[in-house]
Amino acid sequence: MPAPALRIALLGCGVVGTQVARLLREQADDLAARVGAPLELVGIAVRDVDAPRDGIDPALLTTDAESLVDRADIVVEVIGGLEPPRALLLRAIAAGASVVTANKALLAADGPSLYAAADAAGVDVYFEAAVAGAIPIVRPVRESLAGDRVQRIVGIVNGTTNYVLDQMATEHLGFAEAVAQAQGLGYAEADPTADVEGYDAAAKAAILASLAFHIRVPLEDVHREGITGVTAEDVAWAASTGHVVKLLAIAERTDDGVSVRVHPALVPVSHPLAGVRGAFNAVFVEAESAGELMFYGRGAGGAPTASAVLGDVVSAARNRVLGGRGPVESSYADLPVLPASAAMTRYQVRVDVVDRPGVLAQVAAALADHGVSIEAVRQSQAPAAPAAVTATATAEVADPVAHLVITTHTATDAALAATVEAVGTLDAVLSVRSVLRVEGS
Ligand code: HSE
Repeated sequence: MPAPALRIALLGCGVVGTQVARLLREQADDLAARVGAPLELVGIAVRDVDAPRDGIDPALLTTDAESLVDRADIVVEVIGGLEPPRALLLRAIAAGASVVTANKALLAADGPSLYAAADAAGVDVYFEAAVAGAIPIVRPVRESLAGDRVQRIVGIVNGTTNYVLDQMATEHLGFAEAVAQAQGLGYAEADPTADVEGYDAAAKAAILASLAFHIRVPLEDVHREGITGVTAEDVAWAASTGHVVKLLAIAERTDDGVSVRVHPALVPVSHPLAGVRGAFNAVFVEAESAGELMFYGRGAGGAPTASAVLGDVVSAARNRVLGGRGPVESSYADLPVLPASAAMTRYQVRVDVVDRPGVLAQVAAALADHGVSIEAVRQSQAPAAPAAVTATATAEVADPVAHLVITTHTATDAALAATVEAVGTLDAVLSVRSVLRVEGS
């Protein structure tokens, strides 16, 4: 005898929710066969039932999300934001429903509350769609690599910023122009802050780091820098030194703990992440036994994100049919999350200096004084318009000006910051044009 239908409640009917509802309808027979029971969409909670929606049965719509949650076996949340999703998901869990959410902000801010509630109720919390949209990365890290030891995850997990940086590199656009283009194409929001300031990527980094290292990573422990300070000049210089600029989410194990950070970085063109173009996402994982793995695909969009949601719905539904639960939170490891100042990276520092004897030696001495080792220095004529990060400009302006591109060996953020400050105070240094990390080599 076939198992009784599982009741699915959908919270939210935007770009992703619409596609989840469509796939539940169009693939009903396949999904039932895969699960071993039919999946019945019993309702969709929305703010406004009268808003125009293509392909959605109006009879399913309700503004009473609480009542809907109370009559579901599986609750799918694609609203976003902290409230009302948190209250609704906790209500669903307490009532014995499993939940599937795409809500990275909620998981990064308060995932442990949901996991604890799910443990108490013996239900599942699945969230593949919360990180990098369609790309299977939560399940691989949480399950496929459960027998390995992840060393490092480096991801391009925000499509909007990747699109912006890619346009700056390939079409030679300025930052504002590229953001406007991303907005025109619907990648960037009218207020692009969450993407361009790295908040979205930081939430994803916190989730990935928690899974990879079996710890809890509070969102406030993720060092975050966005791309608003990246200039067309930075992008052009990156190209001339064989790099592309990418916004990276990095989670890595060190001898002292775990470093979790989001910042723009120069990536060598030979690295697989350098080839991730447009609004695509990719996550590069280094694990002790598996070695290097790369996951690539669409990190946003209705159907791609709905694909990840549906995969979770099938998993949660199978668990209910067969009995048992999916993976639970694993936070047993005793690894501190390190402060940003402890992160070890290589850097590329660009400075304008007065071109006279001994200047290079002074700059090199300032680096040496702070224990920062130089890997390479390239000198050329200074680019036209100085864009000073710091400037002392005490030198004679009539002196010829040289542009130094200094690449360092790995150094801590703290050492590099002190170095840059010291370099900026040298008489012969006219401006520190840019300081960018170098990753992936
Ligand atoms: N705004 C995100 C991005 C998608 O641009 O990748 C949702 O996390």
